[in-house]
Amino acid sequence: MSVDLGFWNGIAERYAALPVRDEDAYARTLDRVAHYLTPEQDVLELGAGTGTTAVKLAGQVKSITATDLAPAMLAIADQRAAEAAVDNLTTQVAVAQDAPEGPFDVILAMNLLHLLPDLTADLAAIAARLPDGGLFISKTPSLGEARVIKRMIMTAMVSVMQWVGKAPKTVSFLTTATLEQMIQDAGFEVVEVGDYPVSTPGRFVVARKISSVD
Ligand SMILES: C[S@@+](CC[C@H](N)C(=O)[O-])C[C@H]1O[C@@H](n2cnc3c(N)ncnc32)[C@H](O)[C@@H]1O
Repeated sequence: MSVDLGFWNGIAERYAALPVRDEDAYARTLDRVAHYLTPEQDVLELGAGTGTTAVKLAGQVKSITATDLAPAMLAIADQRAAEAAVDNLTTQVAVAQDAPEGPFDVILAMNLLHLLPDLTADLAAIAARLPDGGLFISKTPSLGEARVIKRMIMTAMVSVMQWVGKAPKTVSFLTTATLEQMIQDAGFEVVEVGDYPVSTPGRFVVARKISSVD
């Protein structure tokens, strides 16, 4: 599978230094994720990046396994976990489809799904790692919801940036309807949605696994 290892490793330090773009939206997201977490759960995070979210949520669950394709991102996550004295967080380099098998009670994917070149296969792999009733919680920039002109401008900008190596190879312009349908088609029922922030929008989806998929 073609993945953006060079791109993500290369921007890890800069990504870590970026401030959270919208503090209110991020706080709201964390609050809604925390609503579903319990101290008995083993959690897997895909595309965990520099571990900001995993470190913040670790105290609310039994364990959290933060995975990412980029070792440079996870090196920063390890450092952050150590600084925060979090001892139930482990990191593992893995592309989403090859993430550890678990078993896990909850899988998180924050700002990741629009970057995956084969989202159908990735959603199937996520479903395969959860028991029936297990939760898949994601937040995804739904770039396909932008107005036509803005979408055309964004598409052109992303293409140019990809051409010069300044954007990931895959950036999908998903609509919220497409995203939610794909999650349902992978064997989930959607139990909560939200937009944090409303404007971009960052589509928050909580889905419960209802049936096993092959
Ligand atoms: C936009 S960042 C989001 C990081 C973090 N989840 C957050 O919300 O800040 C996307 C992350 O996904 C990782 N990534 C991209 N494609 C991936 C894949 N196929 N499998 C696993 N991780 C991937 C990148 O290395 C990067 O750390």
